[in-house]
Amino acid sequence: MSIGVPAETAAGETRVAAASQPAKQPLLIGVPKETAAGEKRVATVPDVVEKLVKLGFSVAVESGAGEGANFDDETYRAVGAQIVPTAAALWAGSDIVFKVRPPSPQEVGLMREGGTLIGFVWPAQNPDLMQQLAAKKATVLAIDALPRTLSRAQKMDALTSQAGVSGYRAVIEAANAFGRFFNGQITAAGKVPPAKVFIAGAGVAGLAAIGTAAGLGAIVRANDTRAEVADQVVSLGGEFVKVDYEEEGSGGGGYAKVMSEGFQQAQREMYAKQAREVDIIITTALIPGKPAPRLITADMVRSMKPGSVIVDMAAEQGGNCELTEPGQSVVKHGVTIVGYTDLVSRLARQSSTLYSTNLFRLTEELCKTKDGVIDVNMEDDAIRGLTVVKDGSITWPAPPLKAAAVPAAKPAAAVPAAKKGHGHGAPSEPMAGNKLAIMFGIAAALFWFVGANAPTAFLGHFTVFVLACFVGYMVVWNVTPALHTPLMSVTNAISSIIAIGALVQIAPPLGEGASAIAAAGAGPGQWIRWLAVGGIVLTAVNMFGGFAVTQRMLAMFRK
Ligand code: NAI
Repeated sequence: MSIGVPAETAAGETRVAAASQPAKQPLLIGVPKETAAGEKRVATVPDVVEKLVKLGFSVAVESGAGEGANFDDETYRAVGAQIVPTAAALWAGSDIVFKVRPPSPQEVGLMREGGTLIGFVWPAQNPDLMQQLAAKKATVLAIDALPRTLSRAQKMDALTSQAGVSGYRAVIEAANAFGRFFNGQITAAGKVPPAKVFIAGAGVAGLAAIGTAAGLGAIVRANDTRAEVADQVVSLGGEFVKVDYEEEGSGGGGYAKVMSEGFQQAQREMYAKQAREVDIIITTALIPGKPAPRLITADMVRSMKPGSVIVDMAAEQGGNCELTEPGQSVVKHGVTIVGYTDLVSRLARQSSTLYSTNLFRLTEELCKTKDGVIDVNMEDDAIRGLTVVKDGSITWPAPPLKAAAVPAAKPAAAVPAAKKGHGHGAPSEPMAGNKLAIMFGIAAALFWFVGANAPTAFLGHFTVFVLACFVGYMVVWNVTPALHTPLMSVTNAISSIIAIGALVQIAPPLGEGASAIAAAGAGPGQWIRWLAVGGIVLTAVNMFGGFAVTQRMLAMFRK
C-alpha cells in the first residue's frame, strides 16, 4: 500500500526506494531533519504521522529529525513511520517533502524530479531558490504565501501559529532577564509593585505577548498603528495607548502601512514617554516586505530604568530598537536587549506540534478523497495562493483574491439548503416538500378526529395546549444553543405558574359564576386541598430554584 516502501538493510535500518510512482497510488511523505543552524523544529510530529497514515499516506522520517523537539526515532516508528538513515535517501524517495525552513541548494539537489515540497519558502526573498525548484519540475506549496484573510485558511495558518509561540516566548525571555516578579505582591518582607510591560505592535506575536504578560500579572500597555486592534488589546488584559495624531494606519489585508512623518514624530514622543515609565518593552512592529520600523532610539534606551529589558522580535528584519544585535542578548546602558531570532525554536516541541497540525490541515484539503493522493486544485483560492511553483512553472505571486468574503458567504448559506434535502442537494427538495404535505395531512386528520369525538370542555384545553406548543417551539428555536440550558431553567420557573391552579383548588368555592370550577359545584374535598398545598410547595422549589439556576448560568457568561 505504500510507495517507495523501504527495504530492510542488514543493519536493521530502512531505506526509501526511489521508484517512480504509478498514478493513483498512495504517496510517500518524507520529513527530513532541518539543516538551518539552530533550527530545532520538525515539520511533522508523531501524532500527525498517525493522522497522515489514516489519510492513506506513507510517512518516512529522517533519523534524528525530531531530536531537537524531543521526539525520538522510536516514537515515530511506533506510529507507523519509516526511519530513513540519510537525507539523500529521504529526499530521493519521497513524493512529498514536508519542511519547516526553505530548502538549501544542496537539499533541492537531492529532491526527486517532479516532487512536491510543502513548507516555508518566502518566494519574494528567495528568487534563486524558486528557479532551482522550477528546474526540478517541482510543485511547491509555500505555507507563508497562504491568503490569511480567507477564514477557511485559518487552520493552515502557520505564520499565525508560529508567531503566537514566539510572542509567548518573548515574554518568557523578558521574565528571565528581568530581576523582579511580574505580578505585584504584598508580603511580610515588603511590597512589590507589578512590572510594567509595553508592547509595540499588536499583530499575532504582539497579542500573544500581551496575553502572556497580563497572565503573569504585569500591567500591560500596547500600541499599534492599526487602531482596529485596540479592542483585542483590551480583551487580552492590556491597555491600548494611542498616538496623539489622527491617521489611519491600516494598509489592507490586516497589515499596516508606512506612516507619515508627522505621525512618526508623535509616535516617537509617546514611545519616549513609555520608555521612561515601563520596565519591559517587547517590540513586534513590522510591515511585510519592509525593513522593521525604528521605534526605540538609543536615547530611549538610555532613559530606561537600570535592569529594564527590551525584547526585539523584529531583530531579523533589522530590529525595532537601534541598539539590537540580531541573535544576541546584550546589555547596553544597564538595559538588557534581547535580539534572539530563534524564539520559535526555543519552544520547539510546541511550535513543531502546531506547525505540523497546520500542514496536516493543508494535506486534508489536498487529499479530500482520503486515499493518500493529493490534488493541487488551482481553482481553490487557498491552494492557489499557496502554490508558488506548479509542475516546474513559477505561479507566484497568485492573483489577488476576488472579493473573497462576499462569495464565500454564499456557499455557507447554501449548506442549510442542502441539509434540508438530507444531503442530496437540490433534486431532493421536492421530496422534502411532499413529506411536509403528508405530515400536515396526517395532523389535520388527527385534529378532525379529536374535534369530532372529544367532549367540548376538553377541546378548549386542547386548543390552548396546541397553541402553547407552537409558541414555545418558536421561542426556543430562535435562541442560541449556548443559552439553551439557562433558557430551560427559566422556562422551568415560568412553568411553575401551575401554582395558580393549586391556589384555586385551595380556595373555598367562590360563589356562582366566579369560576368554572366553583360554578361546577364540585368544591374541593379536604384531601384535594392538601394535595394542592403539596403542589404549591413543589412548584415553589421549581420556580425559585429555576430562577436561581438561571442567574448562576447567566453569570458564567458575564466577565
Ligand atoms: P504581524 O504583521 O501580525 O504584526 C506586526 C504588527 O506591527 C502589525 O499589527 C502592525 O500593524 C504593527 N506595526 C507596523 N508598523 C508599526 C509601527 N510603526 N508602530 C506600531 N506598530 C506597527 O506580524 P507577527 O506575525 O506578529 O510578527 C511580528 C514580528 O515578530 C515580525 O517582525 C516577525 O518577523 C517577528 N518574529 C520573530 C521571531 C523571532 O524568533 N524573533 C519569530 C516569529 C516572528
